[in-house]
Amino acid sequence: MNDSKKKVAHTIAEIKKALEFNDGRLVGLVPTMGALHRGHLSLIQRASRDCDAVVVSIYVNPTQFGPTEDLEGYPRQLDKDIELALGAGADVIFAPADDELYPGPVLTEIKIHELEGLLCGKKRPGHFSGVATVVVKLVNIIKPDIIYFGEKDWQQFVIVKKVFKDLNIDTKVVGMPTIRDADGLALSSRNRYLTQKQRRSAKALPAALELAHDMIKNGERRRDKIISAAKEVIAAEPSLELEYFSICRPENLIEVEAIKGEVLLAAAVHAGGARLIDNKVIKI
Ligand code: PAF
Repeated sequence: MNDSKKKVAHTIAEIKKALEFNDGRLVGLVPTMGALHRGHLSLIQRASRDCDAVVVSIYVNPTQFGPTEDLEGYPRQLDKDIELALGAGADVIFAPADDELYPGPVLTEIKIHELEGLLCGKKRPGHFSGVATVVVKLVNIIKPDIIYFGEKDWQQFVIVKKVFKDLNIDTKVVGMPTIRDADGLALSSRNRYLTQKQRRSAKALPAALELAHDMIKNGERRRDKIISAAKEVIAAEPSLELEYFSICRPENLIEVEAIKGEVLLAAAVHAGGARLIDNKVIKI
């Protein structure tokens, strides 16, 4: 067994043993589904600056995929991910199999009221319930002091914070800025599904958000005008299909009529088989 393999725990017993130090070390957790990119690595690097021990979980969680979604085809590259995570500062990797995390039928899950039915949740029923449940399971196993999320999935970030508050989970939730390619496209494990043509078109997603952002910065306050201008940018790319474009409150995702204070611009598009999301928070 090479050295990096020794830093991988596949069972709950192994990860608990690896974290049995009882000396007050600050533990950070970066939960991932693997297919790591620079966005994940920025979370791991931040965790390794903040914490004494960094755990990266790599687990493609089946309960957050809908029946027609990409669970089977989701990119899996465990050996490469282990090298990348350790290289970025992870101390131990937790890579459980399905029957380790979900042995037998699951009778318990976290239900998310209201927030689940907004933005991405509208077309992905049960998705955030699956996310919240697996995150709480990971937290119960690893007991991190701090957990790190990318802000690209803003709704996930908001929901996890609310779940922890509601369930009195003390782990601190830290969000980290979205990492982008040079043309503005947010990094995502799903970008690898894009053909070259779709990849070129996909930059219309950040461009639409940027346009909405600039319109607001330049004084435009008519919600419909901003949304239709942003939609036009996406519509100009025939290989993109808009799922939603939202202007809402960052903390509760409720659509805003009056554009003032802090607002979240959030959008989702489909490009072939890939579903891409992005957002921008703007303070007026
Ligand atoms: O953001 C993700 O990659 C997943 O939703 C997470 C948080 C690892 C839970 O499976």
